[in-house]
Amino acid sequence: MIYLDHATTAHPRHPGVAEAMQSALHLAGSVGRGGHGGARAAGEIVSGCRRGLAQLLGVADESRMVLFPSSTLALSTVISDLCGAASSDSVLWIGALEHNAVWRPAVRALGEQRVRALPVDVGGQVDLDRLSRLDPGAVLGVVLQHASNVTGLIQPIEEVGAWCQQHSLPLVVDGAQSAGIVPLHLARCPGLVAFTMAGHKHLGGPPGVGPCYLAPGYEPEPLWIGGNGVDSALPTIPDGGPGRFESGTPNLPGIAGLEAALRDFDEHPVAARFEELVLLRGRWCEALRDVPGVELCGEHSAAPRTPVLALNLPGIDPEQVTAQLEATIGARCRAGLQCAPLAHRHIGTFDVGGTVRIALGPGSDDRQRDQVIEALGAIAAEGGHA
Ligand SMILES: Cc1ncc(COP(=O)(O)O)c(C=O)c1O
Repeated sequence: MIYLDHATTAHPRHPGVAEAMQSALHLAGSVGRGGHGGARAAGEIVSGCRRGLAQLLGVADESRMVLFPSSTLALSTVISDLCGAASSDSVLWIGALEHNAVWRPAVRALGEQRVRALPVDVGGQVDLDRLSRLDPGAVLGVVLQHASNVTGLIQPIEEVGAWCQQHSLPLVVDGAQSAGIVPLHLARCPGLVAFTMAGHKHLGGPPGVGPCYLAPGYEPEPLWIGGNGVDSALPTIPDGGPGRFESGTPNLPGIAGLEAALRDFDEHPVAARFEELVLLRGRWCEALRDVPGVELCGEHSAAPRTPVLALNLPGIDPEQVTAQLEATIGARCRAGLQCAPLAHRHIGTFDVGGTVRIALGPGSDDRQRDQVIEALGAIAAEGGHA
């Protein structure tokens, strides 16, 4: 099997992840529920996970790392909070390539007309020059993905954040496709109030944990509340601390698995992984450009990118291409709109059913590239009728 779907979820996971999950399942207790040995041990796992995330992301105070059940729930929480106090003429600005985890909650809160796209260039990267000339009058805030799950394009979040800070606007960043693969120092990003992540993607953990950094002073309204083991006599959720957003019994095996995955970054730092994978992406793109019948999509600018690339074989349904890639060489990659219709509209692939996405990661190499290129060449030559 050739795994080319690293933007969907990590594979293979470090063996320590399964081991840590297994041992968390055998713990007799849950975090914050009582003071006995099992509860204390569970609490240490959760603190270790917050600490590992804070270290990885350049955050001094680990209590600002909230462990949501997914990045989708983290985004829904902060977006509904940003839109909660909206007057009837206020608008939210989002990127042009946003995932449905941003677009749908924004549209539900405000309606399509009041969810506006930031000014961008042809590839979808925010145009800072045009942004600087905009009037932020009725803007509630900015929600921007850091890296595209369709083309890998990386947004200049620090520059957008500086503009937000200048106008006292909150910036929320969807880091699902960048955390664990793009070097990050969140404390240096101006204007940032929240940075949401998917623990099961490039961070290497299991599904079921969506870490989110909330900047000091930013206290959104939780989307759901209930028991969190703290101040149980109160009718309301207590203020302060990550537990405010973590009501309900936490997914301890998932958190333990993520904590174990984070330890791997000590040996393989993000900066080194990024450099290696960017070079690999460059070699894949170069070779793919020469394959007759293959068209790279969304590569309109020299913007930095994560190792995700989009391609099509014009005239052949992307779903059919991925099915044939799996049938012929055992390659697993994803076709279609990849939950990001806005991105496909922007790069012009919406009407052809999206793209074939190749998402490289640890384990991807040039030998796999040669196999994929040969298989794609054959599919293109046969017009998809193999
Ligand atoms: C850019 C982006 N944002 C958000 C998400 C949502 O992540 P999850 O499904 O883990 O909640 C994804 C998942 O593919 C994504 O690619």
